[in-house]
Amino acid sequence: MALPILDTFGRKHTYLRISLTDKCNLRCTYCMPQEDMQFMPSKWLMQADEISYLAGLFVEMGVEKIRLTGGEPLVRKDAAEIISELGKLPASLTLTTNAVYIDQFIPQLKTAGVTSLNVSLDTLQEERFKSITKRDHFVKTLDHIRLLLNEGFVVKLNMVVMRGTNDDEVNDFVRMTLAEPNLHVRFIEFMPFKGNQWDMSKIVSYADLLSAIGQEYEFQPVAGELHDTARRFQVNDGLGTFGIIGTVTHPFCEGCNRIRLTADGKLKNCLFDTSEVDLLTPLRRGDDVRQLIYAHFQKKHFAHGGHASFSKQQAKSEYEQNREMIAIGG
Ligand code: GTP
Ligand code: 5AD
Ligand code: SF4
Repeated sequence: MALPILDTFGRKHTYLRISLTDKCNLRCTYCMPQEDMQFMPSKWLMQADEISYLAGLFVEMGVEKIRLTGGEPLVRKDAAEIISELGKLPASLTLTTNAVYIDQFIPQLKTAGVTSLNVSLDTLQEERFKSITKRDHFVKTLDHIRLLLNEGFVVKLNMVVMRGTNDDEVNDFVRMTLAEPNLHVRFIEFMPFKGNQWDMSKIVSYADLLSAIGQEYEFQPVAGELHDTARRFQVNDGLGTFGIIGTVTHPFCEGCNRIRLTADGKLKNCLFDTSEVDLLTPLRRGDDVRQLIYAHFQKKHFAHGGHASFSKQQAKSEYEQNREMIAIGG
């Protein structure tokens, strides 16, 4: 077993997020701001064997959980092969997906040992879904969430809450979880990335979300881990849970255990840190990339890539320097 990946704050990095592609079959503006985005040429992308090799290396270095992200991970033609190869590693495997293609992957997911998936869904209204995603896949998405639950998967729904866009639906999402023990909704504070028109005023804060939910429901906190993104709650007599991912007003950096690999093989030590390290080029040259990984995590900042507090004037321009969310992988 190789040495664990530690940073100077003593945080151990055991959770690897691998983006498989920057392409997606939806066009949510907060994630992919331009409809005509320039996607990465395919030769820039990590190939399936390179992904397996790097994932295996990270597992030797202490990674216990791997999450595949995108864009939409399942638009990649070799997604099934990648899922099946990573399923063989001694680490838990999961995905963040929009669920549009998920019906084609049920047997592969089960064989690979996937038991839980995170599904992005920002609205329960068909017309609004079309306006947020620019695509007409609402019915399919809801059907596929039901399919996942019927197949016995745990489903976490990710709802990015945007003031004036979908914040009137928060309690409708909470209601969905009441009779479903395997359904957990997470309300996410809208985060700034390149070109996504982020503004503090568009965020519905952790405190405001709790207060809106409190108007309709009584709930209790659910115990969690320091590294969890969501602080979770359960409505009294409810079976599922709701959680709040309060990156902006309620950060969880203190327990950060995350490593990110972009689809083009760049290592990010934080979602918001722009100083990426290329692992793919040295890997293709046949170099050992382990020292690059350890060294990059020695440079990790305590929070938010070392950038300005979100409420400061310069925050917007600093976060604009990052990639679009779709090119990072969330
Ligand atoms: P679990 O493993 O189920 O806890 O999933 P997750 O919440 O880590 O991942 P998911 O892909 O479902 O992301 C949900 C939301 O949390 C998205 O908006 C992500 O961008 C955000 N998120 C995920 N990881 C990080 C992180 O390291 N830092 C911050 N600030 N936000 C994150
Ligand atoms: N702010 C917050 N969450 C976002 N996501 C994508 N873009 C943003 C953003 N700007 C979420 C997606 C997906 C997860 C990986 O990240 O909804 O569920
Ligand atoms: Fe970790 Fe950076 Fe996310 Fe904070 S913002 S939890 S330091 S990845």
